[in-house]
Parts: sequence; structure tokens; C-alpha cells
Amino acid sequence: MAQKVSAAVFPVAGRGTRFLPATKASPKEMLPIVDKPLIQYAVEEAIEAGATKLVFVTGSSKRAIEDHFDSDPELEQALTDSGKNELLKSIQDIVPSGVTCIYIRQGKPLGLGHAVLCARAAIGDAPFFIHLADDLIAGSPGCLAQMASEFSNHGGSVVAVETVPREHTSSYGIVAVDEGNRDRITQIVEKPAPENAPSNSAVVGRYLLAPEIFDKLENIGKGAGGEIQLTDGIAALLEEAAVYAYSFDGVRYDCGSKLGYLQATVAYGLDHPDTGEQFRDHLKELLSN
Ligand code: UTP
Repeated sequence: MAQKVSAAVFPVAGRGTRFLPATKASPKEMLPIVDKPLIQYAVEEAIEAGATKLVFVTGSSKRAIEDHFDSDPELEQALTDSGKNELLKSIQDIVPSGVTCIYIRQGKPLGLGHAVLCARAAIGDAPFFIHLADDLIAGSPGCLAQMASEFSNHGGSVVAVETVPREHTSSYGIVAVDEGNRDRITQIVEKPAPENAPSNSAVVGRYLLAPEIFDKLENIGKGAGGEIQLTDGIAALLEEAAVYAYSFDGVRYDCGSKLGYLQATVAYGLDHPDTGEQFRDHLKELLSN
């Protein structure tokens, strides 16, 4: 019987250079999709999957994330006084009771693998989720809940994957799998050129990893781009433990890129009860001109 997964790591210490100047003083994870920042979608997905310990690995200019998940008594009082009860509830429910937030600073952005390693003491010796908030995935149940259910079937690590056009392999970690063995990963390579890629099955920002990953991350050196890469840690892990590729059910938006962010905004705006109908009419009008 696989262990329950109750902790999630949110590496949010990257520089977000693809979104400058918007991300100069404010974190990319605080970019809103309609009325919620990306990091709130991330937290909701992790809580839905059973996480009660949320570990944020933060860096400079990321204070807004801590403030977002903290209570704000003055704002709550103002909303109470003006009878704005729905808005009051929307800010009080951001972190449900029984869920703990832990913040760890990454000093320097030395890579995603290094960011995950910074969470080691907070995670301890149990399997855990990693969620990259700029990969927004619309799905029901959410991607992490799907992965938790997959994990309960076999107890091995799980990495979410999606098929990408071959010419895009150099933007992702790419896996080769054993299809006869539940898509167990046999190889994983960080950002290979299309001609060197073992497939076009790309890792996206959701992982459920065994704690043994920490020892691997301690021991790998710098990889692609001079950074400590999570992909290289997983490559070391899969030499001695099962790591499975999981094709999730849902639509992913790469909100770390301008186009992906706009696509998510349109999709969520069309789906939102406050804006959907009028927004649809507006888009139709805009596109017919
Ligand atoms: P990205 O490379 O997509 O994010 O890292 P970035 O560096 O913030 O963005 P660009 O490429 O400059 O626009 C993937 C994830 O890993 C985190 C990022 O915050 C992002 O969620 N990360 C990356 C860290 O937490 N620390 C790092 O040292 C690097």
C-alpha cells in the first residue's frame, strides 16, 4: 500500500526573465489568470490532491507570495464593515485550516534541482509533490490528484508528461519509456536538440517523487545551462528506483511564456461565471472586424 502524499514543494525562486519587465519587482507566480494568481491555482491543486504541508522555495522579490497566503486582518475588517461577504470569504479561504505554509529562501537561483534540494529539511523522508506554478493545468480532478491516484497503484515516483512537437524538445526534459511496463521511464534528458531527443514526450511541471531524490540532487553537479537540474536528479533516481511517466488528463498552459499566459487568460475568462458570456461576445466582435 503506497504512502499518502501530504507535502508539496513550490519552487518559486526563478527569475522569470521571459516575462520582464512585468516580473522585475513582482513574482511571475503572482500573475493573475482572471482573478487569482497562478500560485493560488497551484496551491488549490495540491490541496485537492491531499497536501497539507506547502513548502515554498522563494527568492528575492517574492514577498508578495508570503503576503498572499497570510491573513490580512485590516482588509478582512474593511470587507466585513462594507458587507462584502463573498469577497471576504474568497480571501479567508485561500489557505484552509489544517494546511501549513513553510517558506524557505533559495539564496541564489542555481537551478530547479537546487530549489527542490532546499526543501529537504521541510519534507523529510516521505514522497512529495513538486508543482511549478507557471505550468497551469486545467483538469478535473487536477493533475496532482490524478498522479496521487496513479502512485497509489504502484508506489513508484510519477512525472507528468505531454507530447510536444519535435521541434520543441529543446525546451523540455524529454523521456523514453518502457510501454510494456506502465510507461516506466528508461531515460530522461534535459532540453535535447530534436535530433538527439529520445522521443517527443516532454516533462511538464508536476512531479511526485520519492525522498531518495534528495541524495541524488546532493551529488549531481551542474547540468544544462550551468544549473543544478531536477532532470539530472531524476536520471540518477531511475537507475535504482521506478519512475513512471504519466500522461495527464487536462489542458496545460505554459504561463511562463507570453503566448501561453494569454491563452490561459482567454480560456479561463471564457469559463468564468462573472465574465464568460460578455467576454465571449466581446471576442466574437473583435475577431469579426
Ligand atoms: P524556469 O526556468 O521556467 O523559470 O524554471 P524562470 O527561471 O523563473 O523563468 P525564465 O525562464 O527566466 O523566464 C522552472 C521553475 O523553477 C523555478 C522557477 O521559479 C519556475 O517555477 N526555479 C528555477 C527556482 O525556484 N529556482 C531556480 O534556481 C530556477
